[in-house]
Amino acid sequence: MISSIPVVNILMFFFLHFVLGIGGSQTKNVPRAFFVFGDSLVDNGNNNFLITTARADSPPYGIDSLTHRPSGRFSNGRNIPDLIGEQIGLDPLLPYLDPELDGKKLLNGANFASAGIGILNDTGFQFVNIIRMPYQLAFFETYQKRVAALIGTEETKKLINEALVLITCGGNDFVNNYYLVRNSLRSFQYELPAYVRLLTAEYEKILMRLFKLGARKVLVTATGPLGCAPSVIALRSRNGECATELQRAADLFNPLVTTMIGLLNKKLGHDVFISIEAHHIFYDFISKPKAFGFKVTNQACCGQGPYNGLGLCTAFSNLCSDRDKYVYWDGYHPTERANRLVVQEIFNGTKYMKPMNLSTLMSMEA
Ligand SMILES: *[C@@H]1O[C@H](CO)[C@@H](O)[C@H](O)[C@H]1NC(C)=O
Ligand SMILES: *[C@@H]1O[C@H](CO)[C@@H](O)[C@H](O)[C@H]1NC(C)=O
Ligand SMILES: *[C@@H]1O[C@H](CO)[C@@H](O)[C@H](O)[C@H]1NC(C)=O
Repeated sequence: MISSIPVVNILMFFFLHFVLGIGGSQTKNVPRAFFVFGDSLVDNGNNNFLITTARADSPPYGIDSLTHRPSGRFSNGRNIPDLIGEQIGLDPLLPYLDPELDGKKLLNGANFASAGIGILNDTGFQFVNIIRMPYQLAFFETYQKRVAALIGTEETKKLINEALVLITCGGNDFVNNYYLVRNSLRSFQYELPAYVRLLTAEYEKILMRLFKLGARKVLVTATGPLGCAPSVIALRSRNGECATELQRAADLFNPLVTTMIGLLNKKLGHDVFISIEAHHIFYDFISKPKAFGFKVTNQACCGQGPYNGLGLCTAFSNLCSDRDKYVYWDGYHPTERANRLVVQEIFNGTKYMKPMNLSTLMSMEA
């Protein structure tokens, strides 16, 4: 019996090395798996499998994707996770709830994001059946057990440690909670500065949970320039300028998240978390559109009403033809072109990636 162990090991080595491509020699620290958590900005179709109104599974969503069909992504084409994965050379991620995600496909990673969710459990309550953060993290645990059954516990741990992780949430804690209705429960409980402190503290707990689950390279975004989203402009702006109160919320919250991440890295003794300052990146598009090739910044490409910002984007909405000239696809979500520029900044930016950009992270030794 004992003599058969090396044979098993050798077979295991061939299996991992050649069949699954694990453990190959690499000069660069390029992740082989990618995990995504968060809200509609990064959901790639989990909500298609749920009974909820927070979904993007009908035309014209996806109009500029390879299939020209909706997939559950909240954009005209690819979203930020798609474009990051593409740059790294990974296959497109499957939503965790997709039955296709099984066997060898699990080893690419998975997308756990769900439109409508926030940092707080009560955010997006009107969408009823969505995967709130504690459940996205619980699915990540289940995922790891499934992978361990395939490649063993040690290799699974390595896969997770070396993987790239992206988490995007916080916007809904404002637009679908604090500011959803006048005198919301949360706005009654908390003044804005206290609310952003609560969100930051809860976000930190989520990040620590990811760390405990093995994540070691985590890109973190908080919100965009909330007051500048066409859906917010339609309801709260007089002349199409960014709405003051939600801009104030974004300006208070985002720097706190970057600071929290810096302190967390210090505590962990390692740059585990990287802050993507998305509100600055998008605000640059809006304040200097020409520099980025945009023409329309305060109107959605797909929608209706003032600034095309009211209601949902549906087959009955107004639809712009020059989508690359728009920052916003619908009332809240960016166009593929805007996503592309954000991903350029994530990889190669020098201003809005703290403490380093993704190219730098990937060029460091494991
Ligand atoms: C959110 O819900 C989870 C699971 O039900 C719970 O463990 C967690 O403490 C809740 N978070 C907050 C901030 O209430
Ligand atoms: C980052 O810069 C490198 C080198 O200039 C380039 O090859 C790569 O395409 C850039 N990445 C993105 C996402 O723009
Ligand atoms: C980011 O990426 C660029 C190009 O890849 C590199 O030259 C630069 O030093 C990086 N900046 C930071 C802050 O990591």
